[in-house]
This record gives sequence, C-alpha cells and structure tokens, in this order.
Amino acid sequence: MKNIVVLVSGGGTNLQALIDAQKSGKITCGKITCVISSNPKAYALTRAAENGIPTEIIRRKDYAAFEEYDAALTALLQEKQADLVVLAGFMTILGGQVISNFRNRIINIHPALIPSFCGEGYYGLRVHEEALKKGVKVTGATAHFVNEVCDGGPIIIQRAVEVENGDTPEILQRRVMEQAEWHILPEAVNLFCNDKIKVIDNKTEILD
Ligand code: GAR
Repeated sequence: MKNIVVLVSGGGTNLQALIDAQKSGKITCGKITCVISSNPKAYALTRAAENGIPTEIIRRKDYAAFEEYDAALTALLQEKQADLVVLAGFMTILGGQVISNFRNRIINIHPALIPSFCGEGYYGLRVHEEALKKGVKVTGATAHFVNEVCDGGPIIIQRAVEVENGDTPEILQRRVMEQAEWHILPEAVNLFCNDKIKVIDNKTEILD
C-alpha cells in the first residue's frame, strides 16, 4: 500500500475526487495518509478533517529563503513517508530539493491540454481566461509528473473538453473539472499506485 500525500491551496475539489475514488475502490494499492496545505484557510483542510485525514500547513512566507522552504517541505514529505505526492490545486512552485527527492513520484493536475496554456503564471482561472481569449474550441486537463520545468514533466493522462458559446472562465473551469480533472487525476494516481507508469525520455508508457 503506497502512502499518498496531497498538497493543496484552495477549495480542494480535486482532493475530494481522490477521497471519493479511494472510498469507492477506484484507487487501489494506495491510501491518502496526509494533506498538506500552503493556506491555513483552505477549504480542502475541512474536507480532509471530515474524512479523518491528518493535515499539515506549510507556508512559503514563514521561511526567509526559498531554499529553507524547499528543505522544510522535503523533510515534511520524508517524515510522512510519502511514496506519491499529488499536487491538487497547489499554488506554490516546488523547489529543486523536493523535485529531485521525489523524481517521477509527484503528480500534478493542470487545467489545460499541455503544452497549451501552461508554464509560469498559468494557474487556476487565468488558464481558462487565456483559453477563451485565444478562442480555442477544445481545451481540457493534463495529469503529469513534475520536473524542474514548470508544467514540463512527463504527461500521464490528458482529456479534452469542448468550449461552448457563452462560456465564462468560471463556467469553463467547472466543465473542465467535472469532465476531465476529477476523472483523470484519480486514474493517474491509481496507475501509479499499481506500478503501471513507466517513464522513458520525459514521456510515459502506460502498462496494461
Ligand atoms: C484546479 O482547476 C487545478 O487544475 C488548478 O487549480 C484548481 C484547483 O481547484 N491547478 C492549477 O492551475 C495548477 N497549475 P481545487 O482546489 O478545487 O482542486
């Protein structure tokens, strides 16, 4: 059984999707053992508490230097014996220590079809604002491993979602979550927990 540690910053609907998938047996061989938030007021913390999952808070601003923050988060993940780290709406960039200590063991959910609308500054609602500004007809979500390049790690699963007439960023964000994120993130986590993801040359191969 792999220990899954989920990092959050906000509402935590992706965390909820993971909790629900665990309860319904869609995630096997893994258990959410801790939720770590960058924001003490995140509703995601309530979701964790309601489900009896231990929580921790770690804030970038409590550390003078970024390296200290990076070391503290690495130490916390090691103390929690994380086998898999999931970024479920985690809005702080990870440092090199966390990434190198958990190489191909950190999964992020991004609300667009990478390599579109990704990289530094593309997070949350902003991603959907840019997609609407560009006038794309199809967008979606991507579950991928995290490496040193922002949103540049090996892609695990992508799912497309149609843009509709009259969409606002909020409406599109909700549709992308409902039709893509809440499905592919638990699927990617389940594949990882069952050792079904092989990484070669910054790409993944899903094993049957
Ligand atoms: C989700 O749409 C997630 O894909 C996005 O933030 C939202 C968090 O919602 N993440 C990023 O933009 C990361 N680059 P949630 O807290 O309800 O899961």
